[in-house]
Amino acid sequence: MVNIYSCELLILIGSILCLVCVSLEYVPEDNYLIDCGSSTNSSVGDRVFVADQSYSDVLSTPHSISANTSSDSTSSTYDSALYQTAKIFNESSHYTFPIKKPGRHWIRLHFFPFVYRNYNLSMAKFSVSAQNFTLIREYRLESPPIVKEYSVNVTSGNLVLTFTPSVNSFAFINALEVFSLPDELIPAGARTISSIQGNYKNLWKQALETVERVNMGNQTVFPQNDTLWRLWVSDNEYLIHNNLVTFVSNVTAVNFTGGGPTENIAPSLVYGTATRLNSDSDPNINANVTWLFDVDPGFEYLVRFHFCDILSNPHPKLYFNVYIGSWLVYQNLDLLKLTFSLGAPYFMDVITRASDTRLLNVSVGPSNVGIPYPNAILNGLEIMKISNSEDSLDVLDSISSRSSEVKVIIVVGLTVGLFLVVVLAFVLFLLCRRRKLDHADPLKSEGHFPTSGGGNNRYFNGANIFSTSKFGPVIDPSVSRERVNLVDWALKSIRGGKLEEIVDPRLEGQIQPDSLKKFVEIAEKCLAECGVDRPSMGDVLWNLECSLQLQGNEERSGNNCQISTQFNRGNNFETRVSAREFSLGGGDDLDGVSMSKVFAQMVREEMR
Ligand SMILES: *[C@@H]1O[C@H](CO)[C@@H](O)[C@H](O)[C@H]1NC(C)=O
Ligand SMILES: *[C@@H]1O[C@H](CO)[C@@H](O)[C@H](O)[C@H]1NC(C)=O
Ligand SMILES: *[C@@H]1O[C@H](CO)[C@@H](O)[C@H](O)[C@H]1NC(C)=O
Ligand SMILES: *[C@@H]1O[C@H](CO)[C@@H](O)[C@H](O)[C@H]1NC(C)=O
Ligand SMILES: *[C@@H]1O[C@H](CO)[C@@H](O)[C@H](O)[C@H]1NC(C)=O
Ligand SMILES: *[C@@H]1O[C@H](CO)[C@@H](O)[C@H](O)[C@H]1NC(C)=O
Ligand SMILES: *[C@@H]1O[C@H](CO)[C@@H](O)[C@H](O)[C@H]1NC(C)=O
Ligand SMILES: *[C@@H]1O[C@H](CO)[C@@H](O)[C@H](O)[C@H]1NC(C)=O
Ligand SMILES: *[C@@H]1O[C@H](CO)[C@@H](O)[C@H](O)[C@H]1NC(C)=O
Ligand SMILES: *[C@@H]1O[C@H](CO)[C@@H](O)[C@H](O)[C@H]1NC(C)=O
Ligand SMILES: *[C@@H]1O[C@H](CO)[C@@H](O)[C@H](O)[C@H]1NC(C)=O
Ligand SMILES: *[C@@H]1O[C@H](CO)[C@@H](O)[C@H](O)[C@H]1NC(C)=O
Repeated sequence: MVNIYSCELLILIGSILCLVCVSLEYVPEDNYLIDCGSSTNSSVGDRVFVADQSYSDVLSTPHSISANTSSDSTSSTYDSALYQTAKIFNESSHYTFPIKKPGRHWIRLHFFPFVYRNYNLSMAKFSVSAQNFTLIREYRLESPPIVKEYSVNVTSGNLVLTFTPSVNSFAFINALEVFSLPDELIPAGARTISSIQGNYKNLWKQALETVERVNMGNQTVFPQNDTLWRLWVSDNEYLIHNNLVTFVSNVTAVNFTGGGPTENIAPSLVYGTATRLNSDSDPNINANVTWLFDVDPGFEYLVRFHFCDILSNPHPKLYFNVYIGSWLVYQNLDLLKLTFSLGAPYFMDVITRASDTRLLNVSVGPSNVGIPYPNAILNGLEIMKISNSEDSLDVLDSISSRSSEVKVIIVVGLTVGLFLVVVLAFVLFLLCRRRKLDHADPLKSEGHFPTSGGGNNRYFNGANIFSTSKFGPVIDPSVSRERVNLVDWALKSIRGGKLEEIVDPRLEGQIQPDSLKKFVEIAEKCLAECGVDRPSMGDVLWNLECSLQLQGNEERSGNNCQISTQFNRGNNFETRVSAREFSLGGGDDLDGVSMSKVFAQMVREEMR
């Protein structure tokens, strides 16, 4: 009797503990919630945003203005209390938050532009950075209330947030949140898909920006129902072909006790609703459920899929594929096999790159293993932008780095092109010589090509360099048929007007017609059968520089074909090498020494 009683008691205590565990609220170690420009504390849900007078020690600013509005256009929203006031900065200002717990912290910036005296906040234009990351660059927020969310891994004792107004403008902020995240929330890295090298990417040095946070099942989940005060918007507006889907909901089916994700990953309201392929009416349905999201091209994105099998039991086995665009993220996903129990949440992270597209398409669809009643579900989705190599999250920085990337490709392409032309001409020269001299050692002959006022030393130097190139030893008594064919083929392409054949395919469509024409003119001259018709090496370089300038027309620095520092903006190695190669100036300056340096450099590049 006693034993049974204590056993029941134990079970009772156990379940209470379990309940406490499950519903335990997350208490961030670092937690700064500031109602900027306000003289009173504001309650938002279960949190208090503190008047910024109480936080005056974290703000360093030469001058700031506390602004308020009586506008009640936002009074109905959850956090409207935060939008009655704002701090305005007319000079660069810093918040320095002491950080107790190293690791990822969220930074949420609340903006609501209103008019205060002669400050129209819709006209404000400014940049925001955190540590060394650019979060926002020269941005103007004309929209209704907006919350921008970022996370950075803080490894020092402080997190510094900087507001910098653009010239003749000012910056503002209505409220801000800085707080530590549960360690399990953001992984140290993730598997990559699409055109990213390698199959894993580290994230611990990167800043992230939440671009989308979506709850499937046509239900919005508000911050007051999320342990980390996140807003999950309904998926309705992102769905295409929504006649193919049904929305399902069973929040009580969600079971967090299996040791999988906790409620900090996503609340039960997210896992408890889903959008699924509607196979009820058509057991042979073969279609994807697709959501479309706007993204900034040129960035990589961390995409998190949330799954939970909440479909009523018994139901046909869930077995489906997951895609981003046309890339397969997961084939034959079998939730029961991964989680061992119905109703157990599961999430999956992948990193993808949005190269040229402004759309990120996410789909789930039947697996091609024929099973009756094909099905596919998704419960939630988060898309986080990853800071780029310039430590920026702003699309302006993506565009400028992309344009310099294109330039690098063009410069490298032309370099390789020049190299190819010179090698072809040289091979041809050897052929001619061979024909004329009948087995004489080509090294002992004095060439018309390719000398720029010609001594043997320089010529030999160049020849030796070529012999180490990927074209193999050039000074070979038996010139192979392949190379003969290469020359024939190049000439045929040029004369047949099929110029693009001898241009690197990566450059297709990127070369200015003028530039290409000039380039080919030089190439053809180099391949002239008679030595005297061929240009000198100085002429070749001079003309290639001109061709290069025609390509980069908008940045022409004058008419003297002087390529100077314009390629220095990018910071990768090729850029620097190319800038050096092409900074030789006019053909008259060329001497043997710098020429061999140029070619040595090219060969080194070529060998990579
Ligand atoms: C606001 O809250 C902070 C922290 O809880 C407290 O120290 C401060 O006294 C409060 N200020 C006002 C005006 O109530
Ligand atoms: C702004 O604050 C001042 C001082 O507290 C107050 O007198 C004024 O009425 C407020 N203005 C608006 C538009 O709420
Ligand atoms: C910012 O405002 C203060 C006070 O009006 C003024 O003294 C200062 O010169 C302003 N700074 C700029 C950069 O306009
Ligand atoms: C504030 O600026 C916005 C955007 O430029 C403009 O639409 C609005 O009319 C301005 N409001 C006032 C009161 O000047
Ligand atoms: C920011 O960059 C500077 C210079 O590159 C460096 O000295 C500093 O440590 C960096 N700060 C952080 C927080 O990473
Ligand atoms: C933060 O960075 C440190 C090293 O700088 C690393 O050890 C840690 O794993 C990172 N944390 C996260 C959550 O990425
Ligand atoms: C989805 O939600 C919206 C807004 O709540 C509602 O208007 C719409 O009817 C819902 N769609 C379905 C299919 O339930
Ligand atoms: C969301 O949170 C509010 C406030 O805590 C609560 O009243 C409401 O019932 C919750 N909604 C759901 C669907 O749980
Ligand atoms: C919700 O899920 C629970 C547990 O799986 C199940 O007992 C219940 O019948 C489901 N409710 C509906 C409406 O499907
Ligand atoms: C929740 O999952 C655990 C572990 O899989 C299981 O033991 C337990 O019975 C489940 N609870 C419910 C209510 O289904
Ligand atoms: C995304 O879907 C749209 C519309 O269906 C399509 O036009 C676009 O090509 C797709 N993009 C990708 C990257 O799959
Ligand atoms: C679903 O989308 C993927 C990726 O775009 C595609 O390969 C597959 O054929 C699609 N399936 C159906 C049934 O349309």
